[in-house]
Amino acid sequence: MTQHPSLMAKAAALALTAPLWIAGAHAATITISCGSVGQDFEFCKQTTSEWAKKTGHEVKLFTIPNSTTDILALFRQMFAAKSTDLDVINVDVVWPGVIKDHLLDLKPYSKGAEKEHFPAIVANNTVGGKLLAMPWFTDAGLLFYRKDLVEKYGAKAPTTWDELATTAKKIQDGERAAGNRDFQGFVFQAKAYEGLSCNAVEWVHSFGGGNIVNDKGDITVNNPNAVAALKTAASWIGTIAPQGVLNYAEEEARGVFQNGNAAFMRNWPYAWSLGNGADSKIKDKIGVSALPRGGANGQNAATLGGWQLAVSKYSKNPEAAASLVMHMTSPEVQKMRAIKGSYNPTIAALYQDKDVLAANPFFGDLYSVFTSAVPRPATATGAKYPEVSSAFWNATHDVLSGKATAEDSLKKLEGKLKQVKRNQW
Ligand code: GLC
Repeated sequence: MTQHPSLMAKAAALALTAPLWIAGAHAATITISCGSVGQDFEFCKQTTSEWAKKTGHEVKLFTIPNSTTDILALFRQMFAAKSTDLDVINVDVVWPGVIKDHLLDLKPYSKGAEKEHFPAIVANNTVGGKLLAMPWFTDAGLLFYRKDLVEKYGAKAPTTWDELATTAKKIQDGERAAGNRDFQGFVFQAKAYEGLSCNAVEWVHSFGGGNIVNDKGDITVNNPNAVAALKTAASWIGTIAPQGVLNYAEEEARGVFQNGNAAFMRNWPYAWSLGNGADSKIKDKIGVSALPRGGANGQNAATLGGWQLAVSKYSKNPEAAASLVMHMTSPEVQKMRAIKGSYNPTIAALYQDKDVLAANPFFGDLYSVFTSAVPRPATATGAKYPEVSSAFWNATHDVLSGKATAEDSLKKLEGKLKQVKRNQW
């Protein structure tokens, strides 16, 4: 019996576009970790189920801790055990050099899609010629402030840290006198973890004190500008920032700010969408600007953050896992996440998209903040980056909590980093 040629063509077309179960192919279950800060989990659920529907595969969400430091520790344990429990992994921008041996090269699956993304991020994610992760969203530290209160106290959005301290104190005093005893001038991330390294790189860089380790791999952190930066930050604790900030990560700072209890907050862009959510006490009252400059040598500095998606080398379904990565990092999904969650796209063209800009006016106004954000020294220090960063955040935490002077702490840090480096990173 011969088959009708046009029917055969129809069947072939169906096989290309239809879910796998119709096409008769093997359906996989892909486990993905997406993040658990803010709206991460909800967005993950939504975007992965779209892909599941389209392809016929199944997706399971893997729950991870909030802190990037804890997530890295968990993933490293799983990699050491060659665990097949995770197929798709969220990768912090500072990790490719650290976990490179456990990720699959995505080049065979990406069909050149990476060319649409910011080249610096693609370069960051490419190790030894292999594309180890697709850019998913980018981050840069921003200053969020209460537009209404800055105006009420006759101030302006601050452009230097000194101005920030003065305005924060003025608003804090006024709001406390008016009855809000819990009101804080400034909240940020000063818990001993990776987020403190991000904040402290901003302080140090904004004072002209460099980047801990320079591009050549030299340890530069023990310098007078870095000392001045850490002294300035330490002066905020217990004056314009609560003592408790020494234990704040992103979500604790956002909680205080979003409840209407702080004038200024340092955070990542995700805080914009939540701060303007229906249940936020400060909806429509938020201003966003670049973080302030340091002293005489000052400049604006935002630490570069952001997340990528990668496929574990130990995945039993690399092809389906890579297909999910390509879906999640696609222009369509990035656009939706930008509009609904203020996640910064990694695709330059989306910064010109009318809907994206309408939802996030600061994506346009502060475009140069995003494109000139300061990287942490992850490339220069490679696999040693986690040790470098933890030495830096601990040294900073000691200064903020009054355990050590900035001079002593940075000198000690320099010694410690020399040990970590030994001959080379
Ligand atoms: C954000 C950034 C990430 C950074 C982390 C620190 O998630 O995107 O790069 O390491 O914050 O807490």
